[in-house]
Amino acid sequence: MANVALIIQILVANVLGYAIATFVMLRLLITSLFKPIKFVKSTFINNRKVMPKCLNDPSLGNHGFLQLEDVKIHYVACGDEGKPLMLCLHGFPEFWFSWRYQMLEFKKDYRVVAVDMRGYGESDKPSNKQDYAYNKLSGDVKQMVEALGYSSCTLMSHDWGGAVAWQVVSQYPEIIDQLVVCNCPHPGTFQKYLRTSWTQMKKSWYMYFFQVPFVPELVFRSNDLVFFDRLMGSIKNTKQTQEVVEAYKYVYSKPGALRGPINYYRAAFSSMNRPNPKMVDVPTLVVWGDPDMALNTELAYLAKKYVSNLTVKVIKNSNHFVMLDRPAEVNAAVREFLQKK
Ligand SMILES: *[C@@H]1O[C@H](CO)[C@@H](O)[C@H](O)[C@H]1NC(C)=O
Repeated sequence: MANVALIIQILVANVLGYAIATFVMLRLLITSLFKPIKFVKSTFINNRKVMPKCLNDPSLGNHGFLQLEDVKIHYVACGDEGKPLMLCLHGFPEFWFSWRYQMLEFKKDYRVVAVDMRGYGESDKPSNKQDYAYNKLSGDVKQMVEALGYSSCTLMSHDWGGAVAWQVVSQYPEIIDQLVVCNCPHPGTFQKYLRTSWTQMKKSWYMYFFQVPFVPELVFRSNDLVFFDRLMGSIKNTKQTQEVVEAYKYVYSKPGALRGPINYYRAAFSSMNRPNPKMVDVPTLVVWGDPDMALNTELAYLAKKYVSNLTVKVIKNSNHFVMLDRPAEVNAAVREFLQKK
């Protein structure tokens, strides 16, 4: 029965995805007709050559690469090498830089390493959607910990990084001392919740849209990646400067920068790629910025089904990007949780 429901869900996601894509393409076509040259220039020729200074801020540490089994991973690390490892996994559409407030806070006590996940930023970008299956993503994290010379870590995660972290803790609980997940439902509960919650279904329209090839990438690139102006503008409690917006645009203007990130969603809606959730005892903190435009807050608590030692901290008046929007509150909640160990 579960499989029938899943197949219907994937089918519906595709039908809706193509319907939305048709509408979006028409809109894009109509607006581009009025200013064709501007549209083409701003969409296809917006590669940025100069790295904004904030991406090389020495207080955030040094850049490096890890060669894993089938991908090379870019990271930025700060804090002394002898200290315990705090590994940070970002979400969509972001990169290592989204953890900067946490890097500055926790480098006093940890070796903090924020990676570009596979497909993102300066990390390798395999081209097939199968390359973004849960097992590949969790395998990367296990290899990252080893490549950094550690046997375990405190794992920090947000959004898609959270989905990966949930998979890692199911498959390799021994490599996680304590787990922090920000604004990401447990994959073991999300697909079913999506089928039964109308409000969540409406919030998830973009996930259906991402099932379509090519069009989502085009939409993100259009009008000089204006999406990132909107995204950073939606963060109200901290000042996201123009330089910060430029940092995201610098990374996402690179050719092929969007395909990997969107392929995470394409792989997730493939019936061959199911998460494999197991009950775990790893102490886990779920931080939830509320109200999240993409995810119902109720989802924070559903992780109980898979986590015996769960703490939930809802942070009000925050958008989805809680570690950027309310960094002081997130850092305080994480610190309190980590100190209980
Ligand atoms: C849950 O984890 C915390 C550490 O975050 C620990 O102090 C506490 O003893 C754990 N509780 C149980 C029931 O294992």
